[in-house]
Parts: sequence; C-alpha cells; structure tokens
Amino acid sequence: MFPFEVLFPTRIFFGTGEIARLGREAKALGRKALLVTGGRSAKRTGLLDRVQSLLAEEQVEYVLFDKIEPNPRTTTVDEGAALAREHGCDFVIALGGGSVMDASKAIATVALSGRPIYDYLRGNPSGTAKELVPVQEALPLLTVPTVAATGSEANNISVLTHWETHEKSSINGPGLYPKVAILDPALTYTVPPHVTAEACADIFAHLFESYLISAEGTHVQDGFTETLIRLVAEHSLTAIRQPDHEEARATLLWASTLAISPFTLSGRGAGYPLHGVEHPLSGYYDMAHGRGLAILSLPYFEQIILPDRPERLARMGRQCFGVTETDDHAAARATIQAVRSWYEAMGITQRLSDFGVTHDALPELARDAVQIGGRGAGHLASSRPLREQDVIAIYE
Ligand code: NZQ
Ligand code: ZN
Repeated sequence: MFPFEVLFPTRIFFGTGEIARLGREAKALGRKALLVTGGRSAKRTGLLDRVQSLLAEEQVEYVLFDKIEPNPRTTTVDEGAALAREHGCDFVIALGGGSVMDASKAIATVALSGRPIYDYLRGNPSGTAKELVPVQEALPLLTVPTVAATGSEANNISVLTHWETHEKSSINGPGLYPKVAILDPALTYTVPPHVTAEACADIFAHLFESYLISAEGTHVQDGFTETLIRLVAEHSLTAIRQPDHEEARATLLWASTLAISPFTLSGRGAGYPLHGVEHPLSGYYDMAHGRGLAILSLPYFEQIILPDRPERLARMGRQCFGVTETDDHAAARATIQAVRSWYEAMGITQRLSDFGVTHDALPELARDAVQIGGRGAGHLASSRPLREQDVIAIYE
C-alpha cells in the first residue's frame, strides 16, 4: 500500500426528505444563487418547482440556468458562468445528475475567474491547462444529486466535453469540492430503468478499476470496495424493478458517493484506466458514460485483467458475485460471466456498432483515449501500460 492523504470535506446530509433543508443550507452559503439544472427531468418530475418554493420560503434569491445537457459542453458552462457574473451570483446550486453537478463546478470556477473553461481542460493542447489545473478557487457550491452514479456530489472532479474537438476531459482541484451536499434518495425514484442501469455500471467501474490493479496490502479498501460492489449489483435490480424502493435507492445513492472517494481509492497507486478508454466514446458519439463502460468492461477484463491479474478478478467474483471455483483462472472466467449476466439482467449488453461506431473510427478514438486519458504519458496506466493498439483491441 502506498502512503496517502485524505480530503473529503463536503458536509453531507443524507436521508429521505432531507431536501426540505435546502433553503436553510442555501441561505448560509451566500446571497444570490445560480440555480443550475438540466433541460427536462427536474421540470417534468415537479422537483424544480419544489426547490424553487424551498428557496422562496427562506427568501434566497436565485437566477435559474436550466440548459445543462448530458455530457455537458464547455460552451454551456461558459454561458452559465456569464449569466452568474451578469447577475452577481455569489454561489451555485446544482440540481441534477453528474452532468449538472460537473457543469456547476465548472461554472463556479469560470464565474469567479472570468477565464473560459476550455483554458482549464486537461486535454487542451494549448498548454494553459497546466498552469490552471488544479483549480484552487471557485464560488461555493451546494449539490443536490438526482441520480446515484458519479459521486460528483462530494468529489472535486468535473468532466466536460469540448464538442468541436470532441475532447472529453476533466478539471479537478481543492476549489471544486462542494461545500454542502443534500442526498435525498427519494429524488432518484423517477430515474428510468435504463439510466439506473447505466448509473450502476458507472458505480461498478469506479469500484473495480483501481481494485483490480491495486497495490498489495490494501485490505481495508478492498473489503470496503467489495461490500459496495456486492450491494450495487444486488440493489440495482431491485431499483430497476421497483423504482420507488426506498432501501434500494438509498443504498445506491450512498454507495455511489462512497465509490469514488478516498475510502476506496487511496493507497492503491492506481486510477481509472477504463474511464480513459470510454471518454472518447461519449466525446464523439454522445454515448451515455455508464453504457460505454459496461460495453468496454468485458473485453477489458478478458484481454487485460484475465492474463495480468486473474487473482483479483477471481477474488472479486468470490466476494461479490457468488463465484465458487477454487482455481483462480477458472474463478476469473466465472467472474466475467457473472458480470455479463448482471449486465444482461439490467439490459445493457450491446456493441459499439449499435451506436454507429465504425471500425475506421477506432484509431482516432484510441489516440484521444491515450493522449487525453494518459495525460502526456503516452499510455493509460493499467495492470500494464495500455497503448493505442491495446485500446483499439478493446474497442474491437
Ligand atoms: O438532462 P436532464 O433533463 O436532467 O435528464 C437527465 C439525463 O437525461 C436524467 N435525469 C437526471 N435525474 C433524473 C433524471 N431523469 C429522471 N429522474 C431524475 N431524478 O438522466 C439522464 C442522465 O443524467 P446525467 O447527469 O448525464 O447522468 P450521470 O449522473 O450518470 O452523469 C454522467 C456525467 O458525469 C460524468 C460523465 O462523464 C457524464 O458526463 N462523470 C463525472 C464524474 C465525476 N464528477 O466524478 C465521474 C464519472 O466517472 C463520470 O465521468
Ligand atoms: Zn464514471
């Protein structure tokens, strides 16, 4: 296990009905909020009306910005930040899924600095990103997640897409931790089955990616990660069958927040290589992030982890998916089959060609994956360095 430092500073309120405290918590953060949300769901479900009344009850002033698209664009971030500056907003409320929360972090950054967000993106070839990342300062942020997926509500990551160049990349830094997060599982009851499935595949990837290639001796993190994987696999199917199942939704929401936290990642000396492989797919094809991860994870297990770290795949299968084989190689294979069956039960087994990805496009996607995800190292760090040809093989 490697040495590590833990910072997990967001004040979290968790529980059904906790949304009721929104007005009071917002009032403590600033004078006037930019209320950021997506284009449809919060309006359709009545949540936006409810949030607006909660703010009005406490006389919190706000300006609404309701244009965040899934896989949020840099142009939308700049537009939202300009609105915040024009109206003198001094804090941001994010009401939505990972896309809304990520965009809100970026808006909070740009609203303070006045620099376009593209200056901050790690993929930006102009090189300015080097001096601006990590982000040290942004307007205070309050998050209200409406999907259990990314953990963005309590982490300091924001993933954005520059649509003209198709770069999907991230910013991070101490300035991006939300000050307050209100996690109310009831807000996720309206998430449709296919988005719930994609979200659970994303939570699973946040857990397995560093676990499978971990340094030795990370016993605490391993036990914690295995518990979360087992719970996500189990409760995903309950939430898909019965969307207002309180216990399942609460379990998924808390698991998603903890999945991408120091409690699972620290000390491993490993990151998220498969995320680097996936990001160009949402950057070029606007594919849902979790769907891309589900498709890519099976070939990644087969081609990379099975030969390199079969004992970790075997362990994951035994601890999380009921695999009983005693031989590590057989257990690793059984684990891949168990994950495939889970994806089938959730209805997310497809091929990239189903999304219009052609064979000709693969070299360009792989180049972006390695360049942007590899942060200039020339490869994505997995159980071995993943170079362009490895990434193409996974896509194929
Ligand atoms: O766009 P709206 O109208 O809001 O609808 C959304 C969207 O269509 C809908 N939705 C959200 N809450 C709902 C709901 N529908 C019904 N009821 C509700 N309560 O769901 C759809 C997907 O929403 P989105 O926010 O895009 O999903 P998710 O939470 O999975 O976020 C995905 C984004 O987060 C990034 C991804 O790359 C992607 O851009 N990630 C962010 C990370 C982070 N900040 O740490 C890490 C992740 O690995 C990931 O990369
Ligand atoms: Zn993810």
